[in-house]
Amino acid sequence: MNRNQKHMTCRVCLCNEAVEVLDLGSTPLANELVDNIPCEAQTYPLSIEWCPQCLNIQLSYCVSSQDLYKNYFYVTPKSASLQNHYSQLLRFLQENRYLNKDTHLLEIGSNSGELLQFFQRSVASVLGVDPAENIAEIANARGIRTEADFFNASSAKSLSKKVGPQDLIIARHCFAHNENPGEMVEGVCEILSDNGYFVIENAYAVDTVEQNEFDQVYHEHMYYYSLHSLQALLERYEFALVDAMTSHIHGGSFVAVAKRISGREICKSNTLQRLLERERHVLNLKGVMGFSDRSLGIIKGLHEVITEISSQGKVIYSYGATAKGNTLLNVCGLDCNQIKYCVDSTDIKQGKFLPGSGIEIISEEFCYENPPDYFLLTAWNYSEEIIKKFTEQSSAPVTFIVPFPEIRYIRKNYNS
Ligand code: TYD
Ligand code: ZN
Repeated sequence: MNRNQKHMTCRVCLCNEAVEVLDLGSTPLANELVDNIPCEAQTYPLSIEWCPQCLNIQLSYCVSSQDLYKNYFYVTPKSASLQNHYSQLLRFLQENRYLNKDTHLLEIGSNSGELLQFFQRSVASVLGVDPAENIAEIANARGIRTEADFFNASSAKSLSKKVGPQDLIIARHCFAHNENPGEMVEGVCEILSDNGYFVIENAYAVDTVEQNEFDQVYHEHMYYYSLHSLQALLERYEFALVDAMTSHIHGGSFVAVAKRISGREICKSNTLQRLLERERHVLNLKGVMGFSDRSLGIIKGLHEVITEISSQGKVIYSYGATAKGNTLLNVCGLDCNQIKYCVDSTDIKQGKFLPGSGIEIISEEFCYENPPDYFLLTAWNYSEEIIKKFTEQSSAPVTFIVPFPEIRYIRKNYNS
């Protein structure tokens, strides 16, 4: 790789020192499943840049929101580990007094309302905002009030007129979904109560880099935040980080708590200070270039392994019609010639095809009846849960291929 590259603008801190770290070619939109094959899914460049000033990692090329969400299939899965995460998150917010029974809670990117349903009993009111109309409908149908809209200054202003100020605004895994990273914060400024908290949960760049998770790179993820970069962004809007926790969810995430900078000095929790200190040791030039090299190694390795297994006549399915799985398959050059089906529990995904690779999505029930020899775990963030479920439902010998942090194999139901 040419490491004497030109410098680009960091869209978070606005310096002109960002450098490209990984070019993954050109791929289709990862959440846009297709109805028929052969499909001519449109592809868009996929590469990332790193900023040495604020430790931000960002996509070099951003697709418009209109294109990204016109045909959207992400539905929060029913998952025991997700429920467990919600309960840890609630405890963190309650114990540190960011949330109580009087809190009016607003969730940005609330999807089908899973989190709000979980939090409902512990707060005064819940309200969701989500741009995907089909998904907001699902939430409203289950009794979680959800506005189908993008969250920005103008939608927040009109929402504020209707429902009044909100005491806690939470954005889980959607803060990085906007090319203009300040747009959501501008909305928060319009509707957050004076002493309210803004809570952001996002995949953590430290984990992405340390665990070689290049599949987290897709067009929806326009930023790979560190706490440094989040802090740099929020300061532009007179917000400051006060606390953070980390979690294993989605391959390693942070939950950051921010509040308005008032006259008083802002106090950072010990955990936040420790995490900020550690980031400097991971997200430096050597760290991000190491990530790039290791990612290229996994891409080559996985292509070779799957091609070899398939040439032996073994049947391979991928498990999880995930957005990150689509990056993985397309970047590794894998398709329906090597991988027969993709298993996924989400009703609305079944019967459709993965973009680019053209692999058909089937139900878990079909897969228990017709098990393959190998699974490529494209929902590796739920691997424990998925492997447990499969072995409870099927006695067929099968090998799970886990791509991260390096390619490894988990054999189940083999007697010898
Ligand atoms: P997720 O990891 O949230 O994906 P993304 O990369 O798109 O953010 O999605 C997990 C997918 O895995 C989801 O489509 C549902 C599927 N899944 C199963 O099929 N079975 C399971 O037991 C679990 C937990 C998830
Ligand atoms: Zn920057």
